[in-house]
Amino acid sequence: MANINDNYTKLQAGYLFPEIGRRVSEFATLNPNADVIRLGIGDVTLPLAPAIVEAVQKATIELGSPEGFRGYGPEQGYDFLLNAISENDYKNRNIKIEPEEIFVSDGSKQDSGNIQEIFDANCKICVTDPVYPVYVDTNVMAGRSGPSDSLGRYENITYLSATEENNFSPLPPNERADLAYLCSPNNPTGAVMDHAALEAWVKWAISNEAVLIFDAAYDAFITDPSLPRSIFEIEGARECAIEMRSFSKRSGFTGLRCAYTAIPKEVFGSRLDGSKVALGDLWSRRHSTKFNSVPYIIQRAAEATFSKTGQKQTRDQVKYYMENARILREGLSNAGFGIFGGVHAPYIWMQTPEGLSSWDFFDRLLNQTHVVGTPGAGFGSSGEGYLRLSAFNSRDNVNEAVSRIENNF
Ligand code: MLT
Repeated sequence: MANINDNYTKLQAGYLFPEIGRRVSEFATLNPNADVIRLGIGDVTLPLAPAIVEAVQKATIELGSPEGFRGYGPEQGYDFLLNAISENDYKNRNIKIEPEEIFVSDGSKQDSGNIQEIFDANCKICVTDPVYPVYVDTNVMAGRSGPSDSLGRYENITYLSATEENNFSPLPPNERADLAYLCSPNNPTGAVMDHAALEAWVKWAISNEAVLIFDAAYDAFITDPSLPRSIFEIEGARECAIEMRSFSKRSGFTGLRCAYTAIPKEVFGSRLDGSKVALGDLWSRRHSTKFNSVPYIIQRAAEATFSKTGQKQTRDQVKYYMENARILREGLSNAGFGIFGGVHAPYIWMQTPEGLSSWDFFDRLLNQTHVVGTPGAGFGSSGEGYLRLSAFNSRDNVNEAVSRIENNF
């Protein structure tokens, strides 16, 4: 028998969202008439914007003609999309990220999970807690941790608790780490980091020769234009940060799949002999070996989100979800719940009532109100005592969820 990668046996239970899916299916089978409202996984619900549908149709017809047919595309992404990203997400905001520093992919989940491959197996990892589970699990799989303790925290990973006291945005640790994962607007807490917080992290990274892996998958949900949408708005970040952004939530691409990672030319890692290697070169090498990029049709669809019409239509969708977030936030807070997030992010971070554990509240919510959330403890031990509600659903369902919760707790 072939030996397995034993690091996988260190992982706790299954991945969070399939486990929730399993519990909800079990409930739905036992209660076939229950009208279940799913505010668990953050999956978009509005149909694709017309500008995107049109781009998909046009690109499909193009591929069906002898002149327009294309096979494999460039691994890093087509120039038309790299240029559109560089112009719209960066240069129009006075941020310098060149097309050749951008790598198109099929999702930020993949990118944030795969990026660790270009780092040494002994690199020390730092995460906030609660945390998007992909950052931790992929490093555990790669052998960068010991076993987990009774809180579910893995040995050799630095955890920084995100609490109400620190506005769910912990400051950098007093110790060094090689890689720190940051997510702003944050999944799951909905907190957002301001310039001062990001500056502190960039300063820490530079003085510790660390790399920041900055997940900005929810950047479009920031409602205050003075808040940073990109780590590269911070001076010095070009020397120490890698950024991930996604079309999933901001343009409804969770099914279409398109995202990208930006790695400035100035971010280096070190070989064991101390010589420097550009991280962008390593990622490019990894990308071209393991990935054939995103389909042409999907890249054209992503490009269409930057057209004037595409921007307007997708912004309107973001506004729709953020109005849902407002309804959840205000409704539940008026009903007496401790509510955080939901102002610059499509997630509401809700304190469980009556001192219930996250999973007990999840079960009670499902059984009494038929509303599905995500237990905060599923994102880490500091998420215990919280539940995450997603604003991705119809207005009617969101209103109905608020009134069911109000009436049952
Ligand atoms: C979530 O619900 O946390 C997200 O949908 C997960 C993801 O984007 O992979």
